[in-house]
Amino acid sequence: MRILSGIKPTGRLHLGNYFGMMRPSLELQNRGEAYYFIADYHALTTVHNAKELQEYTRGVAIDFLACGLDPKKAVFFKQSDVPEVCELTWLLSTVTPMGLLERCHAYKDHLAKEKGPNHALFAYPVLMAADILIYQSDQVPVGRDQKQHIEIARDIAVKFNHTFGDVFKIPEPLIQKGVELVPGTDGRKMSKSYHNTIEIFEDPKWIQKKIMSIKTDSTPVEEPKNPDTCPLIALLRLMASSEETEQFVSRYRKGGIGYGEVKKRLAELAIETFQEARARREELLAHPSRIDQILAGGAEHARAVARRTLAKAREAVGL
Ligand code: TYM
Repeated sequence: MRILSGIKPTGRLHLGNYFGMMRPSLELQNRGEAYYFIADYHALTTVHNAKELQEYTRGVAIDFLACGLDPKKAVFFKQSDVPEVCELTWLLSTVTPMGLLERCHAYKDHLAKEKGPNHALFAYPVLMAADILIYQSDQVPVGRDQKQHIEIARDIAVKFNHTFGDVFKIPEPLIQKGVELVPGTDGRKMSKSYHNTIEIFEDPKWIQKKIMSIKTDSTPVEEPKNPDTCPLIALLRLMASSEETEQFVSRYRKGGIGYGEVKKRLAELAIETFQEARARREELLAHPSRIDQILAGGAEHARAVARRTLAKAREAVGL
C-alpha cells in the first residue's frame, strides 16, 4: 500500500495540521510505503516572498521530523524537487472540466474573500491531483477540508484512464473519524487564513494564552452545557485520555463546571503532548545540514518514481 500526503508551507504547524494530517501520517509510515512532501509549489499560490517561502518550507521540514517522521521509513521531500509533477499537471489539465474546478470550495472561498484570485489558485486541485497520481498512491491521509480535492483527483484519474488507457491508480482519502475538523480559537475550523490557529511549537506561555482566549458561550458555571458543540471538548478529545474526556463530558451535562477550568487543563495537555517533539526539534535546529540531506535523499527517491509514471502518461497521450 502506498500512502501519500502533503502540507503547504504557509505558516507554522498548528494543532489542525497535526491532528488532521500529521498524526495519521506518522502512524501510517509503519504500515506501508509512505511519501510525505512539503507542497511549496502550492504555497506559491499565496506566498509571494522568496525569503518567507524558504523559511516556512524549512520550518515545516523541521516540525514534521520533530513530530516523528522517520526518513528511514517514509520518503520525505519538497514538491518542487520533483518538477515532473508540473508536466503531469498539464497533461491532467487537458481532461479536467472547468466546471469541476469552479465548484471547488477552496476556490469559491478565495473568490469571496479576494479581489482577483490567480490562475494557479484556480488550477490548484489539478496540481494536487498530479501530486497524488504521479506516485500511484492508494491512500491519502488528510483533514476533512481536503476531501473535495481528493475527490477531484479521483475524477481526473478516472477521466484520464478512460480517455487514454489505464495509467493511474484511483486513490482513496483517509479521514480520521472524530478528528475531521479541528476547531480554532473562534470555534471555526482551525486555519491560518482565519487567524485562529494554535501553533504547537510556540512558547508554552503563548500557547496557554491562546487556549485561555478560545471563544465559548456565556452559559453560567452552575448550568449544564452541551459537550457536543463545545470546541474545548473537541480539543480535549484529541489530547486527553478517553476516561478524562468522559469525566469532563459528564460534568458538562450535570452543570457546575466553568470553561476556565477546562481551558487550563487543555493548555497543560497541549504543552505536555509535544514536549518530546519540542526536544527533538531543538536537536534538529542544531544540525541544519541533516535536514538538507534528508530532503535531498527523499527527492531522489520520489523523482525516480515520478519519472516512471510521467513516462507512462506521456506515452499514453502520444508524446
Ligand atoms: P494544508 O497545508 O492546508 O494542511 C495540511 C493538512 O492539515 C489538515 N488540516 C486540518 N485537519 C483537520 N482540522 C483542521 N482544522 C485542519 N487544518 C489543516 C489538512 O486537511 C491537510 O491534510 N492542499 C493541501 C496540501 C497538498 C496535498 C497534496 C495534500 C498539496 N498536494 C496532495 C494531500 C495530497 C493543503 O493545502 O494542506
